[in-house]
Amino acid sequence: MNPRPVWSDPPVLNIPLLKQLRAASDFVPLATLGAGAAADLDALAAFGFRIDRDPLLGAAYREPSPRLCPDQIEHELGTLRLGRRIAVWSRLGSTNDEAARGAGTLANDGLVVLAEEQTRGRGRRGRTFSAPPRSCVLMSVLLFPPAELAPLGADSIRGTVWLTALGAVAAAELVAAWTGRPARIKWPNDARVDGRKIAGVLVERAIRPGAAGTAVVLGIGLNVNPALDEFPPELRGTVTSLRALAGRTFDRSEVVRDLIRRLDHWYDRGLREGPNSLAPAWRDLSEHLGRRVRLTSPNGPLVGRLVDLDLERGPMLETDDGGRVGVSLGAVVSLEDISS
Ligand code: BTN
Repeated sequence: MNPRPVWSDPPVLNIPLLKQLRAASDFVPLATLGAGAAADLDALAAFGFRIDRDPLLGAAYREPSPRLCPDQIEHELGTLRLGRRIAVWSRLGSTNDEAARGAGTLANDGLVVLAEEQTRGRGRRGRTFSAPPRSCVLMSVLLFPPAELAPLGADSIRGTVWLTALGAVAAAELVAAWTGRPARIKWPNDARVDGRKIAGVLVERAIRPGAAGTAVVLGIGLNVNPALDEFPPELRGTVTSLRALAGRTFDRSEVVRDLIRRLDHWYDRGLREGPNSLAPAWRDLSEHLGRRVRLTSPNGPLVGRLVDLDLERGPMLETDDGGRVGVSLGAVVSLEDISS
């Protein structure tokens, strides 16, 4: 049986009411919540929001729903290009595959696909990407970049590299904003804090018969609420989560809203000003800038200090003889830190 999108269930939730309750630190009298509030509170509670009710005191917001809430994500999202359509699935093989299924029509430009659980989540280079159910953000966005920005080859600068950097910047900025901890980008696609991975990005072309234009899927996995001991033992020493960093759990629907907005901001800016408008943020967030790296390209390995990162010119290394060598982004096979 096919999993069903959870958002197909009525009713539409009263999110302004939810926000009003959240903003109050304690009980709000029912009389001040307006007509129909009792039924709307029932609907919110049925969705999983924990709301205390008292016949005398009224209602008090206590906890977010453990489920991703599409109404909450969409409410006043305010984006220009991403999130016109948002689909939340309880379980999928991979959100990247589901988003790619939408490539047949340009009406799906900006489609956001989320899953509570993935059975075949994947990372770069054939790796798997797993996350405990209902604990993380597993999200893919379908985009139709204009022809001059669309990916030409498997790792062309114009498409996948730019969008991979864009996803990593958005994720790293979000982590810093929500935890107060500096997040950095490990080449090319991981957001990390103190060397521990918190988010990964997988950008793929959506190659489908009948695809309208060049479609790309930008997938992000962000560790939100797992405690460290909920990760597989072999990962515990190398990963982290918003919860592990901040010492509290987070409302994933709010995290998703913020992530969509950040992606939208950088994508829109890239379309208007060119992909290199991302470069200053990408550079600032890089783990490697100023450090000694080994860069591998089809011309062989190159060792030196990484002195610049640019989405037009690619990385620039200062080699041991003091010379500077630039490598085009599309030619970079790997870039690893060898300074420690
Ligand atoms: C990596 O670490 O190499 C990239 C991980 C990307 C994982 C996300 S989760 C949502 C989307 N769907 C997938 O199957 N992969 C990406």
